[in-house]
Amino acid sequence: MTASPVPGLRCETESRRDTAQALAAQFGLEYTDAHSDSPFQLVLTDQRLELRQFGEDAPGPIFVDLVEGKAAHRRRFGGGRGQPLARAVGLKSGASPSVIDATAGLARDAFVLASLGCEVTLIERQPAIAALLADGLQRAALDAEVAPIVARMTLQFGPAEECLRALPQADVVYLDPMYPTRDKTALVKKEMRAFHRLVGPDTDAGELLRVAREVARKRVVVKRPKGAEFLAGARPGASIESKNTRYDLYLCP
Ligand SMILES: C[S@@+](CC[C@H](N)C(=O)[O-])C[C@H]1O[C@@H](n2cnc3c(N)ncnc32)[C@H](O)[C@@H]1O
Repeated sequence: MTASPVPGLRCETESRRDTAQALAAQFGLEYTDAHSDSPFQLVLTDQRLELRQFGEDAPGPIFVDLVEGKAAHRRRFGGGRGQPLARAVGLKSGASPSVIDATAGLARDAFVLASLGCEVTLIERQPAIAALLADGLQRAALDAEVAPIVARMTLQFGPAEECLRALPQADVVYLDPMYPTRDKTALVKKEMRAFHRLVGPDTDAGELLRVAREVARKRVVVKRPKGAEFLAGARPGASIESKNTRYDLYLCP
């Protein structure tokens, strides 16, 4: 599977045209007034920026939602600092390491860490995903309950290998690269299949791990599907497992 071409951005509502054009310019996306006949298009509606897929069996729109749905559920009932992700980054009572999430995606993991008190820098290189993230963070900042969490999240657009070298060091670098075979499992929902189709597999993740291990102050955490081989064959110092996921920990000397 290879990545789809970067989608263009269309505005559905006249009053937000300036916002749409600014977003397109910020992330190097083509601004268009035309409906797309390519598989994906970003559309700015009255409420949000969303990624739409066209064609047979297309899923509903993809957008970043940090206020309701799964994010809200996980924030309230996700298990707090005892959940595997929190333990993997080294969240203990009283300690909230700084984290760079170098593969931000739709910010689900980053949001969990920020909601548990971590300062999180999110890096995303895919322009359409980065635009969705910027929009999702902006909307979440308007919600009284979620705003203090989002205030701990900062977005960087670009290749993580470069950003990691330019940013101040963080305690933890967190990696969740796209895993090629995940797409084929029946467990992967339609929305995630669309996301995988847009982004393609992260075949260069081994190099990212190498850079992450150079710059992290305390540890690098790599999220893998349970049973998957280690990223780039690199044996971790420890692993933490949950139902479908394994977090491999590379501790810094
Ligand atoms: C599996 S998704 C991450 C999902 C994320 N953990 C979440 O909770 O939503 C992987 C994302 O990392 C991004 N990515 C992969 N390698 C990258 C790199 N070297 N630099 C920046 N972004 C990268 C991809 O574009 C994709 O959006």
